[in-house]
Amino acid sequence: MDHYGVFGNPIEHSLSPIIHSQFAKQTGLDIKYEKILAPLDDFAKTAQMFISQGAKGFNITVPFKIEAFNLATQCSLNAQTAGAVNTIKKNGNELMGENTDGIGLVNDLTKNLNISLNGKTVLILGAGGATRGILLPLLNQQPKRLMIANRTASKAIDLAKDFSIYGNTCGFGLDKVKNDPVDVIINATSASLDGQMPDIATGVANGAICYDLMYGTQTPFMDWAKANNAKMIVDGLGMLVEQAAAAFKFWTGKQPNTQEVIKNLRS
Ligand code: ATR
Repeated sequence: MDHYGVFGNPIEHSLSPIIHSQFAKQTGLDIKYEKILAPLDDFAKTAQMFISQGAKGFNITVPFKIEAFNLATQCSLNAQTAGAVNTIKKNGNELMGENTDGIGLVNDLTKNLNISLNGKTVLILGAGGATRGILLPLLNQQPKRLMIANRTASKAIDLAKDFSIYGNTCGFGLDKVKNDPVDVIINATSASLDGQMPDIATGVANGAICYDLMYGTQTPFMDWAKANNAKMIVDGLGMLVEQAAAAFKFWTGKQPNTQEVIKNLRS
């Protein structure tokens, strides 16, 4: 039986064990996947112990994704541009680092929701770690324009500059968001955690697909989208399952049926 797990702090509410056990059942693999609470100051040692006990790989969630990036001995381009790792695979003596968050988001949009990003205008709210983690896969879809708006304007400007070699990006402050509709708005801020909605022009939501990276709760962003004529309002549950599927494939080579698992979780 192959052994995997997810490290975080806190970790109690993680849905990853349920998702991966459904993937394993679908693909006929016998795996054990557990939640591991790593001490805030001792992620690397806890993770290395897990590997030395024979585990084949693990996921990493908040707040250890940057430490996992430093722990990995080889990183994909995705992980390098994200500066963060959410999936590690043991390969001989190497710890291969990958970041499947952005691929998860893109797969949910394009495959589950049938939304093409090619030639579209995309507005991302927030310029923190969550945004950095999704930028390269989003830009690989070749949107016409990808705008990053952040409360602290300088962070959005810097992030857009860092990624300008991969596509048409620009960054500015939330106050500079125009009142013109865009195709897709992605909320990648942590504002919902404080019960808040980033303060932006309302016209931008008109006819837009509004996607919140958060899941499990109706967020202020989703309420705002509803009140401002969004075309579609989506939470991050599909992304959660898709990033897990990409990790599962990275470890096992097998592609699970994500739509079935999303349906199970929603019910
Ligand atoms: P994460 O890893 O979740 O991205 P982070 O790196 O701390 O966390 O980034 C949080 C993001 O949410 C930032 O873009 C932050 O804006 P600032 O850079 O100005 O701090 C944004 N954010 C948090 N609370 C917000 C609020 N109430 N309104 C608007 N943006 C908010």
